[in-house]
Amino acid sequence: MRAVQALTVVLLLIAIAWGGAALIPAVFAVAVPYLALAVFLLGITLHILAWARVPVPFKIPSVCGQQRSLPWIRQQRLESPFTSWQVAGRMALEILLFRSLFRNTRSVLTPKQRLVYQPDKVLWLGALAFHWSLLVIVLRHLRFFLQPIPRSIQLLSALDGVFQLLVPTLLITDVLILGALLYLLGRRLFNPLVRYVSLPADFFPLLLILGIAITGILMRYVDKVDLTAVKELALSLTVFHPTVPHGLSPLFFIHLFLVSSLIAYIPFSKLMHVGGVFLSPTRNLPNNNRARRHINPWNHPVPVHTYAEWEEEFHDKLKAAGIPMEGDD
Ligand code: HEM
Repeated sequence: MRAVQALTVVLLLIAIAWGGAALIPAVFAVAVPYLALAVFLLGITLHILAWARVPVPFKIPSVCGQQRSLPWIRQQRLESPFTSWQVAGRMALEILLFRSLFRNTRSVLTPKQRLVYQPDKVLWLGALAFHWSLLVIVLRHLRFFLQPIPRSIQLLSALDGVFQLLVPTLLITDVLILGALLYLLGRRLFNPLVRYVSLPADFFPLLLILGIAITGILMRYVDKVDLTAVKELALSLTVFHPTVPHGLSPLFFIHLFLVSSLIAYIPFSKLMHVGGVFLSPTRNLPNNNRARRHINPWNHPVPVHTYAEWEEEFHDKLKAAGIPMEGDD
């Protein structure tokens, strides 16, 4: 049901793009992408600023290894980072290779009804395949927005099509992203435990990105799009001198509208994990509590009466009573 709700919204977006672009192409080719980008930039900036402003009262890195202590005890630098460089190493592995997801486990009931935890590397592999393909696809798309096309982008495209299986060349990332998206979707649909905790907001981004990937793949392999017209539009948008050339197909308008919807949706959704991962205090703080004092930013000056001051105040009385005092040692 929740998946159906999300699918309905995606189909509605497709219908809007199809009908709307035929009537008012300039709105869908120019106004919508600009608006989406503005919402994205403003939304992301406000979100990040709000997160960055939240004080961190405690140092709360989540660790799972030996912290730095005595010189003869070996420290686990990545599991329990002490310096900023070690934190950077840990973050890099987390962001580039999803290291904590690698150690993810799943619970299963054995035939004898015992609950056991097993490694779940498929989820890690699926997530990695999806995110890396998405990144490579987005980078490859820069060829539409840049003239001349940088060598690095040309090289990336060539590497992506290295198998040269079809005409036009079959791109590895197209296969990977489709496979990974279907797996991630299937997991939410067919695994009862995951289905139970899945909301429309979990299905929607998967279906939206699937819609983007399918329309893109159709444009490349089936209903070929006029790439010169696309590049003309993309370049004109980049230099803020928009022109809407002839020859843009309905499929392209649907692709662009779904992309615009995705971009505008990011700041209001769980997709903000893109920015959140960098600002997560359990990941980005060094575990150096014992060496360096962490001052709670919420602390306000509190008048304190130290033991030394107390002893000074009652010095004569304490002495008269014969009570030993630290100050007299
Ligand atoms: C989140 C952003 C986007 C994603 C995930 C995405 C995804 C895809 C995918 C998977 C393909 C299939 C072929 C390939 O991998 O190159 C594709 C093709 C295509 N996309 Fe996108 N796209 C995005 C943004 C855009 C934008 C902003 C434009 C507008 C310029 C665009 C225009 C096209 C065109 C014209 C094709 C056909 C390419 C060809 O025939 O070689 N895409 N897209």
